[in-house]
Amino acid sequence: MDLTHRPRRLRQDRVRDLVSETSLEPADLIAPVFVDATTDERIPIESMPGHDRVPIDGIVARVEDVLETGVEAVMLFGIPESKDPEGSRAWADDGVVQEAVRRITSETDAYVITDVCLCEYTDHGHCGPLEAELRSEGGLEDGPACEPTMTVDNDATLAALEQIVTSHARAGADMVAPSGMMDGMVGTIRSALDEAGFEHVPIMSYAAKYESAFYGPFRDAADGAPAFGNRRHYQMDPANAREAVREVRLDAEQGADVMMVKPALPYLDIISTIRREFDHPVAAYNVSGEYAMLHAAAEKGWLELEAVATESLLSIKRAGADLILTYFAEDVAQRL
Ligand code: PBG
Repeated sequence: MDLTHRPRRLRQDRVRDLVSETSLEPADLIAPVFVDATTDERIPIESMPGHDRVPIDGIVARVEDVLETGVEAVMLFGIPESKDPEGSRAWADDGVVQEAVRRITSETDAYVITDVCLCEYTDHGHCGPLEAELRSEGGLEDGPACEPTMTVDNDATLAALEQIVTSHARAGADMVAPSGMMDGMVGTIRSALDEAGFEHVPIMSYAAKYESAFYGPFRDAADGAPAFGNRRHYQMDPANAREAVREVRLDAEQGADVMMVKPALPYLDIISTIRREFDHPVAAYNVSGEYAMLHAAAEKGWLELEAVATESLLSIKRAGADLILTYFAEDVAQRL
């Protein structure tokens, strides 16, 4: 055969790596960790094998294990000792995340990012205080058929977010990551941090966060499932791609430093679009359901876990993510 082009030449063992377009580094990975004020012992999260809710007294050891694998950053989620309609334990200076941040930053070199949201702290599980909204299926003339439905009060939530980020920053958080999809959240948080003297603290915005069924295991882990309804009123419709560009643009205007797309694998097109349209670092959140499904299939012997985990993270990077938040962080980093 007289073939000019033989792409297989570059797939031979000794040259394959030389021409590889994408690589995974432990330094690109962020490990999510759960700190729980309601327990003195680690509680395994059933749907997320290998992950636990960790008591405050165990959080430093947990983070040291992460650092051991070469992963240098953690994303901290808190489960508070009590919940109320406003989620007030979220901004308490002696709250679970604030205390964990103080301990981790004073005893380790980890780069500590805090998730900033209210859903783990409100007793109804929504991402902010509620407002009643009247909605009518068949038009106003239906009168009595109008059903009052509850939705999150956007602007009241912004006021709470200001308090949360400043309390995290006072505790020593290196970066804050607002995840509640409230309009104006990035701008509000940026001004609150700046006014409190934390202009050096970057914001990683969950800029394009979809209303996804892949968050199921996380909601068990963090005890943050909405008690009623869903998050459609604030998280994005999975059908929309242009809207993600709009969300990211708004966050860019408001001063977000890193743009996150979440989930990752079912939204690789969004990651790739955001990479092309913006010059910010792009983060992708390989969420709890993406982790759980690979584990479940591996447990049945249907997939090889290490291989599919690495391939997943590689494809997320290839799509354009600079950073990946993933429950596989430690496993994969250890093998790199
Ligand atoms: C909300 C938050 C959620 C996740 C991260 N931050 C859950 C939600 O929006 O319901 C999900 C992460 C995952 O599934 O791994 N604070």
